Amino acid sequence: MSETNGVSACLAQFTPAERERIVALRRALHAAPELSWQEHGTQRTLRAALEASGITEIQSVAETGLIATIPGGTRGGTTVAIRGDIDALPIHEETGLPFASQHPGVMHACGHDMHAAWTVAAGILLARDPTVGAVKLVLQPAEEVGEGAARILASGALDDVRMIFGGHVDWRFRVGEVVATAGPLAASTDTFTIVFRGRGGHGARPQDAIDPIVGLSAFVMAVQTLVSRRLDPGLPGVVTVGAVEAGRAANVIPEQARATGTIRATTPGARTLLCDGVRTLAISVAATHGLRAEVTVSEGTPPLVNTDAAAGIAQEATRARLGAPALRTLATANMGGEDFAFYTERMEGCFLRIGTWSEGRSDSGVHTPRFDPDEEALFVGASVLAECARRASAASR
Ligand code: NI
Repeated sequence: MSETNGVSACLAQFTPAERERIVALRRALHAAPELSWQEHGTQRTLRAALEASGITEIQSVAETGLIATIPGGTRGGTTVAIRGDIDALPIHEETGLPFASQHPGVMHACGHDMHAAWTVAAGILLARDPTVGAVKLVLQPAEEVGEGAARILASGALDDVRMIFGGHVDWRFRVGEVVATAGPLAASTDTFTIVFRGRGGHGARPQDAIDPIVGLSAFVMAVQTLVSRRLDPGLPGVVTVGAVEAGRAANVIPEQARATGTIRATTPGARTLLCDGVRTLAISVAATHGLRAEVTVSEGTPPLVNTDAAAGIAQEATRARLGAPALRTLATANMGGEDFAFYTERMEGCFLRIGTWSEGRSDSGVHTPRFDPDEEALFVGASVLAECARRASAASR
């Protein structure tokens, strides 16, 4: 495929020694993965890698994160950011790779080791050939628990940033293929818990009890009508009841029943509709059955919506580095969550998907114990994200 040339061009932006260092960095991170908010060793490794690349303006943020600033070449340029997340997952690795995880039960199964390494590699390119405005490299902890981005924003460290870019490995696309689309790219991830309170009793005498299990069951069925009857059919949405809990014996009606689940939407409006719908439906179904419902809806990450201007720059950058055929689109909406969404709520931004599959490679996806991305994708991610920052920083305020 024609992408191959683009991939070689991305590789050629680095000296052989730099490529070796970036791969070694990725493998070091991979071998020593750390869970969300525990990325102390990861933070040290990344700081050392930045310093070894001549990037010295580094501050610690959000406990275990780092922001490195590469000054702009000219006064008056726009400050932009590249974000790479750095945390791992509670999965026991089964790849058998020589640099496999040395931390039992913890694995970089979502490719955040790749994201962190390509962010440092982008920094190498940007430090060598300064952009118009400054670029902040954001090495963000705790993406998997949906908390790191919000914490970094709360620190104020990105208050001067006008546009942000980031990327995620994607095993469904070949190395050299990139998704950089405007609009929804990941879903909101709110959770709900409902406790239906009734009155317990003998299983043989339902007339003396108020059965919370029947009320909960009615709710589980009714809640599916939110997506089928209330949501615009053109918009994807999910309401999943993931756990129910009630009762202990065949002949006892319990006092209460509990349901918990996840709500996914790709626009702020759809998110509000589904969250409000779960709440009002639980209360009204409970009332119909003579029960009381205690409803908790916990906000997770918002929907990730790439802004038009940033997506336009990301597409130009991809075409420039890899050629037009490299640009791909997602076949269907991604209903997973991504806390990059907190950044795009506050500023212009685009989150890309970077292909990591190549011939002969296993097609185990992210969040599996055998996930094994092609490391050439490190240089594609670095090259495209650096180009995004370069173009964005030159854009007028
Ligand atoms: Ni991830």
